[in-house]
Amino acid sequence: MSATQSSLRSIDNIRSEFPATKKYIYMDVANQGLISRTTLGSFEKHLQNRLSGVNDELFQLREVERTRARFGSFIGADANEIAITKNASEGINILANAFDWKAGDNVILCPQLEHANNILPWLQIRKKFCIELRTVESVDGSFPVEAAINSIDRSTRIVALSTVTMVPGYRTMMRPISDACRSNGTFLLADGTQSVGILDTNVDDLGVDGLSVSTVKGLMGLYGSGFLYCRRDWAEQLEPAYLTRFSIDLGDAPESAPILDIPKLRAGSPRFDVGHYNFPGLIAVDSSIHQLAEIGTDVIDAHVTKLAERLSQGLMEMGLPVCHSSGGHQPGSIVAVGDVGTALGKAEPAPMVRELHNFLLERNVAVSVRRGLLRFSLHVYNTSNEVDQVLDFSSAWLKKA
Ligand SMILES: Cc1ncc(COP(=O)(O)O)c(C=O)c1O
Repeated sequence: MSATQSSLRSIDNIRSEFPATKKYIYMDVANQGLISRTTLGSFEKHLQNRLSGVNDELFQLREVERTRARFGSFIGADANEIAITKNASEGINILANAFDWKAGDNVILCPQLEHANNILPWLQIRKKFCIELRTVESVDGSFPVEAAINSIDRSTRIVALSTVTMVPGYRTMMRPISDACRSNGTFLLADGTQSVGILDTNVDDLGVDGLSVSTVKGLMGLYGSGFLYCRRDWAEQLEPAYLTRFSIDLGDAPESAPILDIPKLRAGSPRFDVGHYNFPGLIAVDSSIHQLAEIGTDVIDAHVTKLAERLSQGLMEMGLPVCHSSGGHQPGSIVAVGDVGTALGKAEPAPMVRELHNFLLERNVAVSVRRGLLRFSLHVYNTSNEVDQVLDFSSAWLKKA
């Protein structure tokens, strides 16, 4: 049996790990991912220890380092390029506040496509440091690669974008942007929350300098836990806004050693760690990353992309307005229905979006509406049979409407 066959078999087997799939056709990972039975069991021992007064802090601190390394290798990075964060927003804020901004610097952003958490930090940086926020207009829901590249100049410090947008959910074509950033010495920061865990991710292939994620979606973990990748050579040039016990290098000194001066920062990205860790969140994501890695992110990527394509085709064939990326951006695991202009603030939401949404919810299809678009978001536990059921429901709704 080939490696791919054995992995595909794992995809078949994995559904039993997600009891939610018995009740729902769960196509809402872009909102909140499912956790597995194994993940649920993974942090019980730690909570039992807390309950019974067994102090496992030192053990858990060692486990944090294991998880840091596991996430690093999951995205093609070294452990010392990973900071442990609370979520994607914290990672973006950590980076935004670690630069030595000068008035006249600029940041490039397409606010129409970004989650609020990748807009607000930049508005605040603009206010605090009198930098310029260079906004670029989306092209039909896609990231405007050419406009962004043309906007880069000697004062561009950061280009901030998402690997996959929250809606309409296209994969951003990263390479031309990263090449332009690299040759200009500009930091490319990506919010990877909607892709990591679902689409095959390698930071070198993406060409990013920073990648911030929450673990609650594609990574199948808990709320309040995230990772920030920052390329080692960049991390060493940046100054964390906060300093805490876990961001400094105490050498062999005990944790309780008195500190009289600013000590050495930890090498690489762990300098961005703030205070004690969310142990249950990290234990959970350690377990879920292990499950994802066992199947293989290339296999998961191919699986979800194929299902999303089948869904998209089927909905289009029945005449529903499926959003389509232009300009060479590849489709991914998200299918959005409605007028893409709604998401870009250029059109009123169509009533059909809410109506079809309610029709599907009544039939236990978990999906969301975001920025006026009906968003189907798929993961490893979805099947072609589920896609066909959603197509049948949608066709029934159309006949009734
Ligand atoms: C692209 C993207 N980034 C970030 C978030 C959420 O950020 P956080 O987990 O930091 O609250 C979401 C959705 O919730 C999102 O879609």
